Amino acid sequence: MEQLLQQIELYKQEIAAAKATNADMVEAFRIKYLGTKGLVKSVMGEMKNVPNDQKKTFGQILNEFKLFAENKFETLQASVATVADAGASIDLSLPGSPVGVGTRHPLSIVRNQIVSIFKRLGFAVSEGPEIEDDWHNFGAMNLPEDHPARDMQDTFYISQNPAWLLRTHTSSVQARVMEHQKPPIRVICPGRVYRNETISARAHCFFHQVEGLYIDENVSFADLKQTLYFFVQEMFGKDVKVRFRPSYFPFTEPSAEMDISCLICDSKGCNVCKHTGWVEILGSGMVHPKVLENFGIDSNKYTGFAFGMGVERICQLKYQVNDLRLYSQNDVRFLKQFTGAV
Ligand code: PHE
Repeated sequence: MEQLLQQIELYKQEIAAAKATNADMVEAFRIKYLGTKGLVKSVMGEMKNVPNDQKKTFGQILNEFKLFAENKFETLQASVATVADAGASIDLSLPGSPVGVGTRHPLSIVRNQIVSIFKRLGFAVSEGPEIEDDWHNFGAMNLPEDHPARDMQDTFYISQNPAWLLRTHTSSVQARVMEHQKPPIRVICPGRVYRNETISARAHCFFHQVEGLYIDENVSFADLKQTLYFFVQEMFGKDVKVRFRPSYFPFTEPSAEMDISCLICDSKGCNVCKHTGWVEILGSGMVHPKVLENFGIDSNKYTGFAFGMGVERICQLKYQVNDLRLYSQNDVRFLKQFTGAV
């Protein structure tokens, strides 16, 4: 019995020292110790010679021995597996996997261009919240409740608090600026706006605008025209033509829509300009005295102009994007086409 115990101790030392650097060596270990004719089995076979009163203790020793060999086998197996995996994944002769470089979204590109043109004219940038209250979006802009012009700008309301809504235009930022600043005021306000519209190639439930507001003494319609003319020439080139059409907005008086000559068809007539040769890009006008008074600005002393342009429309003319939905579908085939644009 003593002898057997010594033998087990020797085997254990051997097992503990065993090493394997490849799968064949692991297999050799398995056959030697754990195989059907292996050492563990043969030691187990000695059980029958053990006197009955010692069977229990001896059984435990044998079981431990078996477990010891099995654990070692698993460790050896794991060690050669990691060596093999690491070898497979590091092939230094292969070219590196490319790191995808993102591109700016076309709307961001165009918005940045618009902002930088107006910055050169001394306009500061202001932003406001997309979740707005009724006052800033409508009331302050001379669109009281029940005003029929609200129909043109249906939006999404928040049922928890019906006084909150998703802003329909960036004109709400005009209100927030006038609340906190005294004239002279010269700001542009880029941002996302929302309308309750059915989504199609030509309409979406959200889009982007850049608002402009200029209030000072002696600001006239001539300033408005010249500023916007300068803007489109910088944006689209010196050959672009502009025309102003009388329009109506409750917050400006007089109001005008500005069209530019169609750059898609060179004014010959196409789907984008609906065969008129002209494309509308913004609404504008002289700030309504009521709006100035809403913010305690003396309308006898100060005048101002405001405008709001659609970023998608300008982007469409610049990059000939013919479906509004493309801007928010996140299709990389579309987005990749703007690689290199700044
Ligand atoms: N807020 C108007 C719109 O979304 C555009 C506009 C802005 C018109 C400023 C006049 C002055 O349609």
